[in-house]
Amino acid sequence: MRKNIVAGNWKMNNDLAETSELLNHLKMQLVKEPTAEVYVAPSYVSLYHAFQTLKDTPVKVAAQNMHFAKSGAHTGEVSAQMLMSTGVNTVILGHSERRAQFGETDEILAKKVTAAIEAGMEVIFCFGEELEERKGDKHFDVVKSQLENAIFHLSKEDWKNVILAYEPVWAIGTGETASPEQAQEVHAYVRKLVADKYDSETAENVSILYGGSVKPDNAKEIFGKEDVDGGLIGGASLKAIDFLAIVNAFE
Ligand code: G3P
Repeated sequence: MRKNIVAGNWKMNNDLAETSELLNHLKMQLVKEPTAEVYVAPSYVSLYHAFQTLKDTPVKVAAQNMHFAKSGAHTGEVSAQMLMSTGVNTVILGHSERRAQFGETDEILAKKVTAAIEAGMEVIFCFGEELEERKGDKHFDVVKSQLENAIFHLSKEDWKNVILAYEPVWAIGTGETASPEQAQEVHAYVRKLVADKYDSETAENVSILYGGSVKPDNAKEIFGKEDVDGGLIGGASLKAIDFLAIVNAFE
């Protein structure tokens, strides 16, 4: 079901002690029921601890990645089952940093999406264009291809466990945020793609998040757009006060 969501992608930041400190700050400042669903995505080493710390709060924990195999000779990798054994049931897949730095192709991502959904996990699926593609006015073609090749194989039923996250690569970590109009334009296009592929109910029920330099001072305007259902937050999720200011942008 479509909902307002703010998810913090911590990326490769915070060891176990720093995770405890940040989560305790979040818990102290989360004095009232948030007006959005809140997720934090620490690194693998902190997932179990984060789940245990947050299990009596409204804050959910997500993983930043997973392998598509159930088990086996995949040194350094973790499976959906391993993630779920920590209590974590949500995983971010398709992040541009995984695509760029670790060679994750649409084909690999399709396998990961299938494995996560088949295991009963919720998927936050990331997609978005590079700067050159935006400059060449190719961004609609790019996001259409990324969705068609990695997640449009799912059934309508599967989509109950899908959250989409549009992250223009040129806005990630750069301070160069997409304008609310740019975000809305792509979100509306993607929602139409989902409607055409499945049906209007599926399209209306999927949450589409925006990611890319969301900060306390721009969140409210971006989240106020009709097809923007929240944000996937990087840098600003590492400071409790900034992250919660973004969460409260829905008020
Ligand atoms: O996954 C969210 C992330 O890519 C956005 O990063 O630092 O631009 O908020 P940032």
